[in-house]
Amino acid sequence: MRLCIIGTGYVGLVTGACFAKLGHSVICVDIDPEKVQKINKGISPIYEQGLANLLLTYKERITATTDYQDALKNADITFLCVGTPSLKDGSLDVSSLTEATKHIATILKDKKTWHLIVIKSTVLPGTTQQIVLPLLEQHSDKKAGTDFGLAMNPEFLKEGVAVQDFLQPDRIVIGSYDERSRTTLKELYKNFTCPIVETTLSAAEMIKYASNAFLATKISFINEIGNLCKKLNIDTYEVATGMGLDSRIGRPFLDSGIGWGGSCFPKDVDALITWAKEIKEPARIIESVKEVNTDQPLRLVRILQKHIPTLKGKTIGILGLAFKPDTDDIRESRAIPIVKELLRNEAVIKAYDPQAMDNFKTLYPTIEYCKKATDVLSSDAILITTKWKEFTALDFQGKIVIDGRRLDSAKKAKTYEGVCW
Ligand SMILES: NC(=O)c1ccc[n+]([C@@H]2O[C@H](COP(=O)([O-])OP(=O)(O)OC[C@H]3O[C@@H](n4cnc5c(N)ncnc54)[C@H](O)[C@@H]3O)[C@@H](O)[C@H]2O)c1
Repeated sequence: MRLCIIGTGYVGLVTGACFAKLGHSVICVDIDPEKVQKINKGISPIYEQGLANLLLTYKERITATTDYQDALKNADITFLCVGTPSLKDGSLDVSSLTEATKHIATILKDKKTWHLIVIKSTVLPGTTQQIVLPLLEQHSDKKAGTDFGLAMNPEFLKEGVAVQDFLQPDRIVIGSYDERSRTTLKELYKNFTCPIVETTLSAAEMIKYASNAFLATKISFINEIGNLCKKLNIDTYEVATGMGLDSRIGRPFLDSGIGWGGSCFPKDVDALITWAKEIKEPARIIESVKEVNTDQPLRLVRILQKHIPTLKGKTIGILGLAFKPDTDDIRESRAIPIVKELLRNEAVIKAYDPQAMDNFKTLYPTIEYCKKATDVLSSDAILITTKWKEFTALDFQGKIVIDGRRLDSAKKAKTYEGVCW
């Protein structure tokens, strides 16, 4: 099929590159000309395992442009993958989505053939039907369900293993407005062997929010258990193993530590809380999930202060700036509140991350960034904030290490303490 992808971030570019691998012809649109240029040269503008290789290998089948007209006229299906960040009040910013929708609609107006528009961005229940659909109809003078199709197909990929997740998902959710949209998307995904959940537009939107809120809940829950375990001298990871073997619970997302970050959980949890307030339904569990997560990284600094009560002038090494390993994404990384708190205490920071330092420099340009992980080891104390594999090879002997991610090899340090252990 001929596919158009609007927005070439983590979701859009992975979607485009994977569909190209599966044999489809893909044209990506982004407002950022630098990204477009890179993609056309077969270079990935973001770090994501396997993505650069896909872009190079399938260069013939995937191109990029800033021109919507150019892209849409040669496509049968358009996936909307633009960002939906949080506004200051926690609500969802759908301005990129509405902007892109209007562009699509004006081109649909003159398009002679049926076209399917699929929302892949994470949007609150009701957004596709109540915001996207009317905009498409108003600006195209066409009717949804007859002149063009509309579907909601949320994405569940995890950064770091996004390509693998896209190609081998646990499930595919297809929320459709009309029958032709449903069957067209089913045809596109026909070679995937996972279950396909066919549903309404709003249920598809809610499945994404409920999934992310549940996963965030699982992490905050185990962190609370971890905080209790630490007080009682119980190994929280043994508890997680024992719990995780219960098939109703499962082991993933039971690693206690300094909490969740990234581009999705924080903004999705915020949007759900704000939306719940708007519709006057209390979201008590989700609110406390956020509360636990806000305090968890600060616990690491409080533990550090047990060992070094006055941080002023002390050099503190930070190992890991990305919100999780195998990505350069620092959005809502737990390293951010930690660095903020250390600077508030006038500590001197030496940081290292294999992929995320350039991104972190945009937030904190003046802290010291090290060329190698070993350069961090000369600090007065070291905090482990992201569990990159290369940190396991470091020699922590003779050091003070406060661990937020359970890096077992760091236990050889002279002084070692974990956030929940
Ligand atoms: N990152 C993830 O792990 C992940 C996983 C599942 C779902 N999601 C959801 O997918 C959506 C996209 O997330 P992301 O992380 O890929 O975002 P991102 O910020 O990495 O990428 C968004 C891209 O859209 C482009 N863009 C913005 N406005 C545009 C416009 N009007 N026209 C064309 N391009 C435009 C931006 O330049 C950027 O390249 C969000 O709704 C997010 O919640 C993200």
